[in-house]
Amino acid sequence: MEHFEINGGSRLKGTVKIDGAKNAALPILAATILCEGETILHNVPDLQDVRQMITLLNRLGITCERREEGGLRLRAEDEMNCHAEYELVSRMRASVCVMGPLLAKRKRSQVSMPGGCAIGDRPINLHIQGLRSLGADFDLAGGDIVLRAKKLKGTELFLGGAFGSTVTGTANVLMAATLAEGRTVIESAACEPEITDLAEFLNKCGAQITGHGTPRITIDGVDSLQGVEHTVIPDRIETGTFIIAAAITNGELHLENGRLEHLIAVVDRLRHLGLNIERYEKGVQVSSARRLEPIELTTQPYPGFPTDLQAQTMALLCLADGNSVVTEKIFPDRFMHVAELNRMGAHIRKEGPTVIIEGVKKLIGAPVMASDLRASAALILAGLIAKGQTRLHRAYHIDRGYQRIEEKLTAVGADIRRVQD
Ligand code: EPU
Repeated sequence: MEHFEINGGSRLKGTVKIDGAKNAALPILAATILCEGETILHNVPDLQDVRQMITLLNRLGITCERREEGGLRLRAEDEMNCHAEYELVSRMRASVCVMGPLLAKRKRSQVSMPGGCAIGDRPINLHIQGLRSLGADFDLAGGDIVLRAKKLKGTELFLGGAFGSTVTGTANVLMAATLAEGRTVIESAACEPEITDLAEFLNKCGAQITGHGTPRITIDGVDSLQGVEHTVIPDRIETGTFIIAAAITNGELHLENGRLEHLIAVVDRLRHLGLNIERYEKGVQVSSARRLEPIELTTQPYPGFPTDLQAQTMALLCLADGNSVVTEKIFPDRFMHVAELNRMGAHIRKEGPTVIIEGVKKLIGAPVMASDLRASAALILAGLIAKGQTRLHRAYHIDRGYQRIEEKLTAVGADIRRVQD
């Protein structure tokens, strides 16, 4: 296994190129199951989760050829296999995104039920409920969700749950409905930019989707979809992570390709903290005020503050001048980073889904353990400013969602290296 060694204290300055969005690329890759002919994708990040999705697609009969950096050529060659097995689904939950496309295109999908996860309970009841509303028969066999339908039928359905809309659930139902008979209306659909990108990809392929980006998406079913060329949107969570990297080191970064319009709630909160965040012709630029004001923030579905930036923002709030309050409304147990940040000298107290962060003057380097992707990013950010060395174990978590993070950080002045255990 590998770990990161970070020597804190360097001020970051320069330009970082933001890659394509993992959470847009994954459902779009799954959507190629729906398409006839060839699909060419650009700006697909080379991440562990993307590689996992390609392995799964290969097993499902989709060939995938790498082109230029970030480029992939995909084609469905064999439609016999409809089974996403436990071995793959247990490694990556986003594997469930093949459920809707398999059902719609191959009339059957068998996908292993994903198990527990480091960020808490992650049921997929809404995915199943949505696909059943389209007329699929459901069965649970040997831990697999088996769905069958000769022809899906459009309907009006509600996809909201106790924690709001579901991102991959919306993706699954949206993809399935493209080939259903008649009109489907999804109420309480996820509004995330990754869903909009998926819908735009599908529309290029011939789908008839309107209302994407709002909580009501309407889909008029078509007979077939044709592969096209598409460029995946830039990753708003990577952009946000580097905004915080600049802030925590009191630095100044230009984030090429970053899209401010996808980060409105984040920009609002971070400006209250004292950051200067602006557009420039190629993306987003950020610089920090020396003094960080404490803030309150609550994670919410888009356009609210994203849960995927909660941990990283908390690392920054550890150094604010006063007490901040963070409430997690999407995954109320997503706080594995709290104990690790406290090992670095932070003062964070958890009360149910809320934490109170008492700002401290400095963080101190320590060996810490990564538990999931975004918690790992938070610990790297803390390590960038901590006094002395931070060793972040289980580096593989970071590789699921950040492409060559240590190279990007080193290029703008950080002292971080990847080391074999
Ligand atoms: N939920 C249900 N039932 C369902 C589905 C979801 O109750 O059938 C609940 C979840 O437990 C959670 C809430 O609804 O409380 C929202 O979950 P959602 O389904 O939106 O999450 P997801 O689709 O599984 C995606 C991202 C996550 C991101 C969440 C929330 C992908 C591949 N994953 O997950 O990304 O945290 O939306 O924005 O798009 C990450 O990149 O680090 C990551 C975890």
